[in-house]
Amino acid sequence: MCGIVGYVGFREAADVLIEGLRRLEYRGYDSAGVAVRTPEGLRVVKRAGKLSTLAEALEREKPQGTLGIGHTRWATHGPPTDRNAHPHRSGKLVLVHNGIIENYLELKERLEQKGYRFESDTDTEVLAHLIADHYQGDLEAALRAALSEARGAYAVVAMHEDEDALVAARTVSPLVVGLGEGENFLASDVPALLPYTRRVVFLEDGEMAVVRRDEVRVKDLAGNPRPLRVTEVEWTLEQAEKGGFPHYMLKEIFEQPWALENTLGGRIHEETGEPVLDLSLELSRFERVHLVAAGTAYYAGWAGSYLIEKLARIPAQAEVASEYRYREPVVDEKTLFVAVSQSGETIDTLEAMREAKRRGAAALGVINVKGSTITREADDVLYIHAGPEIGVASTKVYTAMIAALTLLAIRLGRLRGTLSEAESRALLHEMKKLPRLAEATLERAEEYRRVAAKYHQATDYLFLGRNLHAPTAFEGALKLKEISYIHAEAYPAGEMKHGPIALIDEHLPVVVVSPKGPWYEKTRSNLQEVRARGGRVIAVATDGDEEIRDHAEEVLYIPEVHPLLSPILAVIPLQLLAYETAVLLGRDVDQPRNLAKSVTVE
Ligand code: F6R
Repeated sequence: MCGIVGYVGFREAADVLIEGLRRLEYRGYDSAGVAVRTPEGLRVVKRAGKLSTLAEALEREKPQGTLGIGHTRWATHGPPTDRNAHPHRSGKLVLVHNGIIENYLELKERLEQKGYRFESDTDTEVLAHLIADHYQGDLEAALRAALSEARGAYAVVAMHEDEDALVAARTVSPLVVGLGEGENFLASDVPALLPYTRRVVFLEDGEMAVVRRDEVRVKDLAGNPRPLRVTEVEWTLEQAEKGGFPHYMLKEIFEQPWALENTLGGRIHEETGEPVLDLSLELSRFERVHLVAAGTAYYAGWAGSYLIEKLARIPAQAEVASEYRYREPVVDEKTLFVAVSQSGETIDTLEAMREAKRRGAAALGVINVKGSTITREADDVLYIHAGPEIGVASTKVYTAMIAALTLLAIRLGRLRGTLSEAESRALLHEMKKLPRLAEATLERAEEYRRVAAKYHQATDYLFLGRNLHAPTAFEGALKLKEISYIHAEAYPAGEMKHGPIALIDEHLPVVVVSPKGPWYEKTRSNLQEVRARGGRVIAVATDGDEEIRDHAEEVLYIPEVHPLLSPILAVIPLQLLAYETAVLLGRDVDQPRNLAKSVTVE
């Protein structure tokens, strides 16, 4: 939520800031702004709306200077207007902020009494004035003093007209320093840095950084020096670009074969037939597993919980992170808490993990972004290795998450003796086919597109799936609603007759996820129940299932695959259905309204 960039060096800061913000726009796109220190003093340019509006304004009047900060906003306090856009200014000081200052009203009242005048409705402006109030010629000291009075979550970068440095701090919200030669950078996330450097320092919670042209110093919030932990990131610039696709989302859907290859790479031991996960946690000591996540990651966790129970016969439950934290979960040292997250920054998931750890659980992160907060706080990490995901709607990371969780389930099954070596070997052998099968699924994109076109005027959709495909149905509905804004509901197929069946009429498209597997017969019965009531059935089925054509208006075929692995393929036509529908309706696929990719507020 909200993207921050900072630059100090020899280039035109405005250019670097716009380029960086372009790569962070997935974090929010309600408004954008930059501040540059020019020979005439600080210049702030900010605009409501997408980054392109700001970029146009900057083309007309680009502030010249080599020190600056920028921000792209996902509104929390106050509507998305020019006035509420960041950076916020207090005299000679400007500030960008990602997060929420919880005690801002109290601080605001105090500052107003001292004579500060507020121009915006934001909590950030309070922080700007508070730092200015503490300023006595040393921005670092002023920021430290201000933060000691502020409560909440923040990543902030401040600069002062009289100083050559950027001063930054973080608690909860992420912040990364990029190290260059004669220039240095700050950003909320690595893609903003990739055009310039792959040498980065992930700031820890409670750390601050003073960033100058030739020097970066990291300290804690009390001012004690901290070591500079430099990491070389593996992601390349090309991976973070659209590569000829019209949207990141489409590119990422088509990257799934590669992402699966990467997730599985080196993790299947040819000789022993075992998954190699390189974990230091002693997995055999756990008696239950809690998989906790949000949104798409939660649906992957849900599928993971079924796989773990099936293969390892250990109680496993998936839960939405925002609920988990506040319901006093029963957790102890025999609980393996699995935080599933693309970004590794989702605050609900992070806080749920902290809560579980406080109660004695061991935490394993199943995470895509290296160096993210969850990876640093978890006891161990199983990386997803799907490469950067920029499209706001998660696609390739969903399938790669399920692949990673399948490996975990097999590993647990082997350790607990519920899965024989032969069974493990056979399943892993099938897993190795996944990249090729995902590719074969994507080759049918044209057919999926035709079906999307046929139904794109529908105002509502229903998605049904049973057992391992209940999560697939929910994920299909989520994809459709978040990018096309069509109302879509999902139900476990057997649950339909307990209420949602009343919705079915001759206008309602009902997507029934029914590939071949142990749940096929039962799901097909549900499909027939929909058909008998005039519903327009779109079935997701396995190649060769001709019979299903008699019960469905359209069939989205996927290649034959092991039933336990079918969730990884069955979601692909649903991703493309959502994508094509959104494109046909003229929606902004990569930046759907009201959303942000990384949700760092509760
Ligand atoms: C939907 C989507 C979100 C995320 C959710 C969790 O397409 O992307 O529902 O899955 O916000 O995000 P991460 O995985 O970063 O924790």
